[in-house]
Amino acid sequence: METLITTEQIEARIREMGAQIERDYAPDEGIHLVGVLKGGFMFMADLVRAMSARVTLDFIAVSSYAKSTKSSGEVRMLKDLDAGLEGRHVIIVEDIVDTGLTLTYLKDILRARAPKSLRTACLLSKPSRRKVEVAVDYIGFTIEDRFVVGYGLDYAEKYRNLSHIAILNGE
Ligand code: IMP
Repeated sequence: METLITTEQIEARIREMGAQIERDYAPDEGIHLVGVLKGGFMFMADLVRAMSARVTLDFIAVSSYAKSTKSSGEVRMLKDLDAGLEGRHVIIVEDIVDTGLTLTYLKDILRARAPKSLRTACLLSKPSRRKVEVAVDYIGFTIEDRFVVGYGLDYAEKYRNLSHIAILNGE
């Protein structure tokens, strides 16, 4: 498989993203990160280590691509958050925004829980594939329309454990 983004590039970019997020919030305010399983687990683990002790975190799981490389267009919640969001500064931490359907769904349901603010951080963005426009506050890398795996992202549940991002060909 061809490497698209190396481990070193990911590390450097996430350090910058962590620092930028820290700068954007007042120093005395908590920041609550909501990681989207399963694809966002590795990004979440590295992003929180690039931030200070005021961070708290939780996870939510939604359905994604199943075994196909084409989006089904429907989003389903598989696991809800453990704690409420009322009055908190919340950031959704997602692996990739592709059609935008998943992030739009998540923003809608989380906004309804009355957070003090709601932002989004995505490691990757494929803008050419958008079906719905969705604002992303922090983007790691903007990429072409290629199916990628690694660093949390899967194809049929495989390759999530790669520490770099690779282009999947011929499946
Ligand atoms: P969206 O709803 O189309 O924006 O897709 C979001 C979800 O689709 C992501 O959280 C991923 O789980 C999955 N996805 C989109 N593109 C890729 C890809 O290139 N590789 C692996 N998973 C992807």
